[in-house]
Amino acid sequence: MSKIIVHNQQRGKISKYIYGQFSEHLGRCIYEGLWVGEKSNIPNVKGIRSDVVQALREINVPVLRWPGGCFADEYHWRDGIGSKDNRKKIVNTNWGGVVENNHFGTHEFFELCRQLGAEAYINGNVGSGTVQEMSEWVEYMTFDGISPMADLRTKNGHPDPWRVKFFGVGNESWGCGGNMRPEYYADLYRRYQTFVRNYDGNNPIYKIASGPNIDDYNWMDVLMKNAAPYMDGISLHHYALASEWEDKRPALGFPEKEWFSLINSAKKMEELISKHSSIMNKYDPDKRVGLIVDEWGTWLATEPGTNPGFLYQQNTIRDAMVAAITLHIFQNHTDRVQMANIAQMVNVLQAMILTDGEAMIKTPTYYVFKMFKDHQDAISVDADKELSEMTSASVSEKNGEYLVSLCNYSLNAADDLQISFNESIISVTGEILKGEVMDQHNDFDQPDAVSPQVLENIQSLEHNISVVIPSMSVVTLHVKTTK
Ligand code: AHR
Repeated sequence: MSKIIVHNQQRGKISKYIYGQFSEHLGRCIYEGLWVGEKSNIPNVKGIRSDVVQALREINVPVLRWPGGCFADEYHWRDGIGSKDNRKKIVNTNWGGVVENNHFGTHEFFELCRQLGAEAYINGNVGSGTVQEMSEWVEYMTFDGISPMADLRTKNGHPDPWRVKFFGVGNESWGCGGNMRPEYYADLYRRYQTFVRNYDGNNPIYKIASGPNIDDYNWMDVLMKNAAPYMDGISLHHYALASEWEDKRPALGFPEKEWFSLINSAKKMEELISKHSSIMNKYDPDKRVGLIVDEWGTWLATEPGTNPGFLYQQNTIRDAMVAAITLHIFQNHTDRVQMANIAQMVNVLQAMILTDGEAMIKTPTYYVFKMFKDHQDAISVDADKELSEMTSASVSEKNGEYLVSLCNYSLNAADDLQISFNESIISVTGEILKGEVMDQHNDFDQPDAVSPQVLENIQSLEHNISVVIPSMSVVTLHVKTTK
């Protein structure tokens, strides 16, 4: 039995950017998943597949991170501009050693953002790139006027500059981005970010330092101590695992204990955000610097028969639980968490979309993002919550309507929930995403096995709602009151 008492007090805006996505040159995320090329039989606009764009537009992707990930620190942006026939073919050393033909580059990325209606989050190369290279990329993308890089952009068919809202200075600099010590990276960060110029004074670039892996609190401390004034945000990466890092567990056909180990690993996000935030508070008490969780999600065993370097995994109702719980955690920390980017958007790790040739399916995770989309830029609302051990919840308000989102990750116990509001209730509608078995998922034969349904039997009287939240389900309620 759970109880939520919703108060009128508002706690702060839930940045829409916590619903951000990540797309890396990894496996079939960019190539096949998003980019099929202009000559493909798969319907596309300027080489970008239309079915995937259409599906993603329905979840309001606010921001897209690109080109990596580990790939970012080996990416040389000049390889991906100009005539496609002349673009360099390189080896994607991080991800399967496959040939990268660079057909998807800067122009194609901004075209994708345009089609999605998403802001651009570019991740620059510190690990194997020069300051000059990074600086010139920023000039190429954003300078409006006569300059060598703006002229080159014009020559390549795009006279107008693009808007780069977010820029990451390196990725996982403690690991694939260069195996650096925090003291060394803090100095490099200060140096590289100096040349990430703000050519557009009206839209200054939000600069993000490469932050800690999971619970590396020393990395956070050293970075904040030495470089906080030079950054707008600092990243945090945490993946949910069902076992040890070296022992990736299957996405389907897993035992009960892995239902819980994966969910508990995801729930660690609460502790990580709290502890990293308290370190940030020491150096940034005004909370100017954002904690940017730009890689999160489930990391499971790759699907049998697929290239292990491609990180292609199935996505079940258990992933939907992880998505809902993690988004609720972010929404509890609106003061620090200014953006998050689930890894990754298509065909990689905890994806929204899976593709197979011209076929495309939406995953249970996709549906959580869809059901939660009205939380984007809504006001987080103060609520007293007495929740069952396996229920998680969040309440926001936008345009005079409340969105209550809930997740019950019990395997067999439904939760009787009572919600009360200060005002009288005018109307309430609900949706439910439910699994009948732990690994229920969508596949190319049964694309709609898990999809949201109308939630029946919502009782509402005066100020109160009572509703049953079934086991293994995510529920959303849209509530209009006399407020
Ligand atoms: O998302 C997959 C990889 O995980 C990214 O490339 C890297 O940053 C992280 O280790």
